[in-house]
Amino acid sequence: MRFLITAGPTREAIDPVRYLTNRSSGKMGYALANAAMKAGHEVVLISGPVNLPSPKGCNVLLVESARDMYTAVEKCIRETDVAIFSAAVADYRIAHPADTKIKKNSDELSLKLTKNPDILGSARQEFGFSGFLVGFAAETNNLEENAVGKLTEKGCDLIVANDVSRTDIGFDLDENEVTVFYKGGKSAAIPFGPKSDIAIKLIREIDGQISR
Ligand code: CTP
Repeated sequence: MRFLITAGPTREAIDPVRYLTNRSSGKMGYALANAAMKAGHEVVLISGPVNLPSPKGCNVLLVESARDMYTAVEKCIRETDVAIFSAAVADYRIAHPADTKIKKNSDELSLKLTKNPDILGSARQEFGFSGFLVGFAAETNNLEENAVGKLTEKGCDLIVANDVSRTDIGFDLDENEVTVFYKGGKSAAIPFGPKSDIAIKLIREIDGQISR
């Protein structure tokens, strides 16, 4: 099957030398791309800026901002059977990035932010995607309620929930522990382990769901 996977953070320009971003390393998304390739799938990986080697044999599209990622996904998603959105997309960007470096002329500086498009939330409605749709939910509290809310609102078949308040898993680490919530109400825990193992289990789970 043809997989599309988004990974990593996005960068939102403040001026030519500064940006807003988040702590995502891209490790989970890259592990998923590797696992999907190993399972025999074709993979397009749309990645924000990360320090990771490109998975061999996978078509990698490098992007910077959320809007760049949106455009890349819009272009590729029609050719896709399974779309996995693991990127930590910046929800907001700077409303008016400066053309020249901002000088420290005053004691305070306010930056006005404006909302970015929701890429996963656009998959069904805007892009007309009818394949198998997988979201991620990064939560610090009310994990189940928030994750299931996103699953429904964004039209996912399943959502992978991460507790990002824990310091031993998740952002920028090699290990993770996740709970998968399915459309229809079931859930399954994938226990603590290397992201590479969790990725293999998730791809197996997705393959299993599709071949049912
Ligand atoms: N996502 C996306 N585009 C955005 C924001 C999020 O594609 N602009 C995707 C993420 O890749 C993930 C899912 O939506 O698969 C949920 O992301 P998350 O950051 O957990 O939640 P948000 O939808 O951004 O909501 P909030 O930040 O309010 O929790």
